[in-house]
Amino acid sequence: MSNLTHSTAWQALSAHQTVISKQALRGMFRADPARFDKFSLQLEGLLLDYSKNLITEETLALLLNLARQSKLDDWIARMFNGEKINTSEQRAALHTALRAPRGTEVNVDGKDVMPDVHRVLDHMRRFSDAVRNGSLRGHTGKPFRDVVNIGIGGSALGPLMACEALKPYGSAQLNAHFVSNVDATDLAETLKRLDPETTLFIVSSKTFTTQETLTNADSARAWLVKHLGAEEAVARHFAAISTNLTATSKFGINPDNVFEFWDWVGGRYSLWSAIGLPIALYIGMDNFEQLLAGAHAMDEHFRETPFERNMPVIMGMLGIWYANFFDADSYAVLPYDQYLQHFPAYLQQLEMESNGKRVDRDGHETDYATQMVIWGEPGTNGQHSFYQLLHQGTRMIPADFLAPLASHNPMGEHHAMLLANCFAQTEALMLGKTAEEVRAELMAQGIGDEALESLLPYKVFPGNRPSNTLLFDQLDPRTLGMLIALYEHKVFVQGVVWNINSFDQWGVEFGKQLAGKLLPELQGKQHTSSHDASTNGLINHYLARKS
Ligand code: F6P
Repeated sequence: MSNLTHSTAWQALSAHQTVISKQALRGMFRADPARFDKFSLQLEGLLLDYSKNLITEETLALLLNLARQSKLDDWIARMFNGEKINTSEQRAALHTALRAPRGTEVNVDGKDVMPDVHRVLDHMRRFSDAVRNGSLRGHTGKPFRDVVNIGIGGSALGPLMACEALKPYGSAQLNAHFVSNVDATDLAETLKRLDPETTLFIVSSKTFTTQETLTNADSARAWLVKHLGAEEAVARHFAAISTNLTATSKFGINPDNVFEFWDWVGGRYSLWSAIGLPIALYIGMDNFEQLLAGAHAMDEHFRETPFERNMPVIMGMLGIWYANFFDADSYAVLPYDQYLQHFPAYLQQLEMESNGKRVDRDGHETDYATQMVIWGEPGTNGQHSFYQLLHQGTRMIPADFLAPLASHNPMGEHHAMLLANCFAQTEALMLGKTAEEVRAELMAQGIGDEALESLLPYKVFPGNRPSNTLLFDQLDPRTLGMLIALYEHKVFVQGVVWNINSFDQWGVEFGKQLAGKLLPELQGKQHTSSHDASTNGLINHYLARKS
């Protein structure tokens, strides 16, 4: 048994789970009319209702004991102070510094990083203003109309999600496109719609070694040069964002168009850095700074607020409750806001690349579960596909429901209907429908005894299925910043309790290595026998069909 599962706090939760699992949420609500007030929190315009969770005040106290036992307060201080908490890579994890206001001091290796952070933000402002007001133009003198971000993972998902989420703040003159996949279809389908004279490419890559990104960047450059007939066009039509300035210069990017960031920014935590340039170009730098300010407000809340009223701590510990004490293995994120359509995909990388690990900080294999599978789709669409399983499947799948109180597109009764669906779903998941209730319903419909009894089991809903609801006034840059930072810190809380390093990602390396070895075999003609029978079979099938 590990220290964690052996600990008093863990054991107390285990014992408590056997008590709670016999209780029903509907009963808890009936017994306590103040449950919503007790189990909800507000920060500015953001409300977290966590009352529809399988918890009592005692549960919360026990969960917070576990957080304290894990020395969460020390870890929070260590992260914000720039300690090298990413031990396997000997790096700090300082995304919080990227959104700290001017005048703050944050030291890494004895050097204050804030002047560099603000130097790059100033560069982003100059560049994005110049592109947006048309003073920076393409090779033939035309203003830019399309920005294509070439990047993958953390160098794409954040900007893609944020540009979609903040479309109402987006420029009417400038479109943002995102190309990630090494499948040429991604690039080809994007370029089909674009005019090379008015297209600006941003090559985003922390390492500037990622195969997909460099391959797409090479092909984009070839497309541009072919259509504009001049190699010099590259200097005006390409910008780069990277920590690897040697590689950007080798690629031939004009140094004035290179935006730097640092190894203490993790890829999936990087949208606040220059990686956010496509966002700044699309919504303008003032709005980008609002996004940073929202994240900073959440940072301050996380750092300063007692655990009992701390949103990321509460959300993180609720996740632990279900993953470790109810064996939940997946978690749904269900935004009732079409603009948040990419939010679940963004969280998949944030959560699963951070905490999808089975070896703890001391190098031991964990004897407890870690990250749940994150998935989701916007409501109401999901209701007509996978919600069946949420309501009546065999698994418990905790879920976050997110919704704005006001729509950017008020139209008839659409928004009231959207919210009615959102609230109805969490209510239905919590309440369920008992056999007695189903029987009464069917009898009222005049269904005869025999038909009634055979239909009854299918119409029963077990209920007791937990959810959080996050409501916000409207999805604006500040609110989005708060939301993203809330999930970043929730991930951090869980990583601390699980005693894992949330900031490395060795698990993605092996596949990359094998693909590197395999590529020459696919490019050649030689029949292969050097792999397992399945891989040999696939390679040889490809080679035979290719020829
Ligand atoms: O392969 C995973 C990963 O390393 C992510 O962590 C990262 O966000 C992505 O690849 C892209 O890396 P880069 O920004 O260095 O191109």
